[in-house]
Amino acid sequence: MKAKIVGTGSAVPKYCMKNNDFTKFIDTNDQWIVTRTGIRERRISREETTSTLAFEAAKKALESAKCKAEEIDLILVATCSPDDFFPSTACQVQAELGAKNAVAFDLSAACAGFLFALNTAYAYINSGVYRKALIIGADNMTRFLNWNDRGSCVLFGDGAGAVVLEASETGIFHFVQHADGGQGRVLKCFVKYEDSILKKQKEGNSYLEMEGQEVFKFAVKTVPICIEELLKKAGMQKEEIKYYLLHQANSRILLSVAKKLKEKEEKFPMNMEKYGNTSAASIPILLDEMNQEGKLRKGDILVLAGFGAGLTWGSTLLEW
Ligand code: UT7
Repeated sequence: MKAKIVGTGSAVPKYCMKNNDFTKFIDTNDQWIVTRTGIRERRISREETTSTLAFEAAKKALESAKCKAEEIDLILVATCSPDDFFPSTACQVQAELGAKNAVAFDLSAACAGFLFALNTAYAYINSGVYRKALIIGADNMTRFLNWNDRGSCVLFGDGAGAVVLEASETGIFHFVQHADGGQGRVLKCFVKYEDSILKKQKEGNSYLEMEGQEVFKFAVKTVPICIEELLKKAGMQKEEIKYYLLHQANSRILLSVAKKLKEKEEKFPMNMEKYGNTSAASIPILLDEMNQEGKLRKGDILVLAGFGAGLTWGSTLLEW
């Protein structure tokens, strides 16, 4: 059995923080942030949480798919910033939606999380286990930021995006996925537990820490290789690809990937200008925006690519 995306949705917090707002507390400026990252503003959660954003995005995806919550067999939420350790974000979304026939669980692969969740759902559908899946990428990374670290706090925003993936007789779908835990130190956010009776508190900080240049180099090196690997696996040529929807980390990363693939920049849509890096949410938010704007036509071949903490990276080729 093949599978196709039949609906999309997204949700972002109301509060919008502009680049200039950072100048009140760190040594930075709009021009630096725009030219180095492509980001102009980002949404930051105040009343919103990871699960409320995930729920909003999911509800819209179900509406767009004209699908009732009870029809869903599987809910997967990709997040590395859940509100709680348990119940999972996916179970919280299931309860809010009333998707009583679904199994629900979270998956953690940071900025590659949505793709890994999409591929997992595809594998379930492809093997005949489930027929309809709701896949959500949701993160509230701004909770973990060190607002004194200008190298990282200007980059991230909060949000969620969702798709409904349904079993189909036709449809092209291929993916490749990778992880390298050995390089995990370059992008990390450790949890500091209170002293327990047996263990001392962990050393170090409990906010996001990033070696920006290392992450940059990792992305521009691995993403083009990963996409070439995917095209080979799918037996497809670059000319057949309508759009490359990449994780919206930094416009310079995307332009470098386009250049390395010898592809036109126009084939790499971007929206980090408005949202910053929303981690697992960035690809489904972009997909939803393009869908809402009518930019995707039936039969279009899309390549999605995610990369981030872990380190993790992967790409997926699918027929719209
Ligand atoms: O989902 C994956 C998550 N992470 C990423 O995708 C991040 C990948 N990395 C990047 O996007 C880039 O490395 C950054 C945008 C984080 C940094 O850009 P860069 O061109 O690699 O800058 P840099 O780290 O080499 O820093 C250049 C200068 C430094 O100053 P000095 O030492 O040359 O005086 C930084 O301190 O820019 C300074 N700088 C800033 N200046 C103004 C760093 N952040 C800022 C800032 N405003 N916000």
